[in-house]
Amino acid sequence: MSGKLRLAGVIGHPISHSKSPRLHGHWLKRYGIDGHYIPMNVAPDDLARTIELLPQLGFAGINVTLPHKEAVTALCDEITPRAKAVGAVNTVIFQEDGSILGDNTDGYGFMANLYAGAPNWRANTGPAVVLGAGGAARGVVAALLDAGAPQIILSNRTVERATALQSEFGARVVVSAWDDVGDAIKGANLLVNTTSLGMDGQPALPVSLDHLGPETLVTDIVYAPLKTQLLIDAAARGCAVVDGLGMLLHQAAPGFETWFGQKPIVDDELRDAVLS
Ligand code: ATR
Repeated sequence: MSGKLRLAGVIGHPISHSKSPRLHGHWLKRYGIDGHYIPMNVAPDDLARTIELLPQLGFAGINVTLPHKEAVTALCDEITPRAKAVGAVNTVIFQEDGSILGDNTDGYGFMANLYAGAPNWRANTGPAVVLGAGGAARGVVAALLDAGAPQIILSNRTVERATALQSEFGARVVVSAWDDVGDAIKGANLLVNTTSLGMDGQPALPVSLDHLGPETLVTDIVYAPLKTQLLIDAAARGCAVVDGLGMLLHQAAPGFETWFGQKPIVDDELRDAVLS
């Protein structure tokens, strides 16, 4: 590809719901960059040849969303340690030498969102309670351990999935029964919902907040609605709360910087652009 035009995009199946094109599109416009960020609907059977073809077409890299985040790891020549820890890739970089680098910026996005929304909060000052044990929980647990959380209390409806994460991530992770996790919230440094509960059209989170005190920072990876019932209830109990949209915005920044050569800013203008 000649000239300065830069190309990146996102692959998923389906892809129409992705907010990434709007997000990157806002930054491209804001920084006056000659580039495009393109959503691509890629069926699982087409994944391997798509990954092979995109760099030949001039793409600098892509984001990867459901259902390809795990499968794409096997198609990368190199995987960053943080992607390895999670076992999934959300950011692919087609490097100058022709090799393919897989990264995972979800954990970075999660932590950057917390630090932006609660600047005085520190991960290392007490236990974190993580609700859920799916793919999203994996990224959150890895990021919290990396940030120095002394203990992670993990709770999931299907306890086997929580136990599997515990054996993978080690002794700083302890498992709490789903029905008892309300007790474990007492005195926590952080409470995170990584389940889909509380999302528009999903049931409410059935966890008791009776023991939730104002010292606990509360966040939700669900961002539709922006203020989930968990965040509303936590704020009513005096807790600082951080909504989940910022995680989506912050996880996009490292890829944008690599592909388009400009470190982007996450601000209210970007939030409005993504929500509109
Ligand atoms: P993701 O990759 O987005 O985390 P996932 O792997 O399907 O998606 O995980 C969804 C999470 O939401 C899981 O922790 C799931 O609990 P189970 O492992 O027991 O399925 C949780 N979840 C979804 N619906 C739930 C419900 N009705 N009650 C309790 N937990 C639920």
